[in-house]
Amino acid sequence: MRSDEIQAEKLVEEYTALAPAYDRRWSAYLDASLHMTLEKVAGLPAGRVLDVACGTGRLLEMLAERADVPQLVGIDRVPAMLIVARQRIGQRATLLECDASQLPFDDASFQLVTSTNALHYFLDADAALREIRRVISPHGNLVITDWCRNYVWMRLLNRILPWTRHAHVHTFSITELEQSLARAGFNINRKSRRKIDWFWGLMTVHATPVRGIRGWSLSPIRGLRDIHTSCTKSRSHKPLPQVAPTSCSLKPLPQAAPTSCSYKP
Ligand SMILES: C[S@@+](CC[C@H](N)C(=O)[O-])C[C@H]1O[C@@H](n2cnc3c(N)ncnc32)[C@H](O)[C@@H]1O
Repeated sequence: MRSDEIQAEKLVEEYTALAPAYDRRWSAYLDASLHMTLEKVAGLPAGRVLDVACGTGRLLEMLAERADVPQLVGIDRVPAMLIVARQRIGQRATLLECDASQLPFDDASFQLVTSTNALHYFLDADAALREIRRVISPHGNLVITDWCRNYVWMRLLNRILPWTRHAHVHTFSITELEQSLARAGFNINRKSRRKIDWFWGLMTVHATPVRGIRGWSLSPIRGLRDIHTSCTKSRSHKPLPQVAPTSCSLKPLPQAAPTSCSYKP
């Protein structure tokens, strides 16, 4: 088995076991980290919202309170987490099982994308950020909160966890996150980092797509110089009637189950 497959299995194993107790076990941590995220999201226009690695759906539930959110979508790799999210959020959000680096949505589908406490699990964070860049609209907003390696305990954790059976991959420093976002085609608007208690040090970054001439987006994959070929053209601005997964169909969901999506690139 390839090492990325082993890592992916570890993630599913770890979070399948954790799912039923996740909210209770991490409640203080979650309150603080989601609050940090909401501080950044508060002044931003919402619209169609995607929460990447939504876990048990706590942030989705908070975002569902907003009047300017016509459609909420959460994706996660682990079905057990999505089952808890479904119980929490009912039919107020669409939930999909898929990987952050292979999002089954059309280009420019979302006005706001969030991701909390998950970046350090992504096997290929650059690929995930590129996917987010692809599905976010040219005038959209991205808010990411995660552990921050600028803090000493987070640095230690980053060293220790690879030696355990934990699915952790890599804890970013704030500069690394900025660089990764820049490679994916984002500008950093605001960033902050904070210790939420004696142990946990977190960071939150608000980023927006890099825009070229006349407000067009520049494709992160082809690089910033190639303005003519890399503009996402008019389809980026096309209003979509619904968030449309490109490779899996959204079926009416049974109350307690996430939609399973065997998306292949
Ligand atoms: C610590 S939990 C955070 C959940 C939620 N965002 C929160 O703040 O409570 C990490 C979540 O990331 C998900 N995850 C990790 N890697 C992923 C990936 N590559 N694609 C989608 N979800 C992923 C896990 O399944 C888990 O639900």
